[in-house]
Amino acid sequence: KVKSNFYCTRQEAIQRLLKPRKKFSHKGTYGHALLLCGSYGKMGAAVLASRACLRSGTGLLTVQVPQAGYPILQTAVPEAMTLTDKNRKHLSELPPELEKYSVVGIGPGIGTERVTKTAIGQLLATSSRPMVLDADAINLIAASEKLKGQLYQKELIFTPHPKEFERLVGKVKNDYDRLQHLREFCMEYGCYVVLKGGHTAIGTPEGKVYFNTTGNPGLATGGTGDVLTGIITALVGQHYTLEEACRLGVFIHGLAADLALQTVGEIGMTASDVIDHLPKAFLHLS
Ligand code: APR
Ligand code: MG
Repeated sequence: KVKSNFYCTRQEAIQRLLKPRKKFSHKGTYGHALLLCGSYGKMGAAVLASRACLRSGTGLLTVQVPQAGYPILQTAVPEAMTLTDKNRKHLSELPPELEKYSVVGIGPGIGTERVTKTAIGQLLATSSRPMVLDADAINLIAASEKLKGQLYQKELIFTPHPKEFERLVGKVKNDYDRLQHLREFCMEYGCYVVLKGGHTAIGTPEGKVYFNTTGNPGLATGGTGDVLTGIITALVGQHYTLEEACRLGVFIHGLAADLALQTVGEIGMTASDVIDHLPKAFLHLS
């Protein structure tokens, strides 16, 4: 009997994963997420990831932003604690006490400056926490053999769109080839990859692939990827396993967009609408 490596994630499976909150729990129970996001001119990415993280149940959230982003983040996301980088426009250093966070999410809007690449190298070298790597964090790693060499023996989730994925693994020939590359990359580095698209595919270190079944073309708009990073970061921080966080995160992101269809439709949909429908999406599953 041949065993397939390909699976479809359906709602019943996701409902079994979702953990209800306990009566005597407190914010410490639900983790402390750290987001390293945003740069001058791309602070929206940090705001979207932060809001999505808070709407996905994180106990606490700290966001580190460049100096120029401080008033923006504090004003747009009052629930988040904000740290500032010494650099005015870009991520250039790591916050102190990295170990106090239960997860690190990095990438949305950070840009590809040299100082930022150095900071990512330091993060990979020093943090023992699980990490969610997105956008320019992926682009910087893809362009550096040294950073790639630092990916082993870690708890990592990558969330590339197809272009970012090709930077990571090289040109792919067709859809099937893309899935083979997905499995090989995950098995090589022992990591998870959320390969985004119309049917997002999640690769695992064992070579399994889970296809998602929610979402719609309303999501094809800037910022929805940053929202997904915030969601998955929150779930890992709450001690879901990396596999659970990927499958639940992608499902709930698509479900929020599907619920948003009813009020805003697919043409008018923005990334903020997806965030606004996250509470309904979680309610729908519980
Ligand atoms: N159907 C369902 N889901 C879709 C569809 C579709 N047709 N198109 C896109 N999506 C989903 C993807 O699965 C993913 O979750 O929308 C999200 C888009 O994520 P990203 O591609 O990362 O987009 P985002 O990061 O928000 O874009 C902002 O990133 O790469 C840069 O230059 C790019 O300015 C852009 C910026
Ligand atoms: Mg993106």
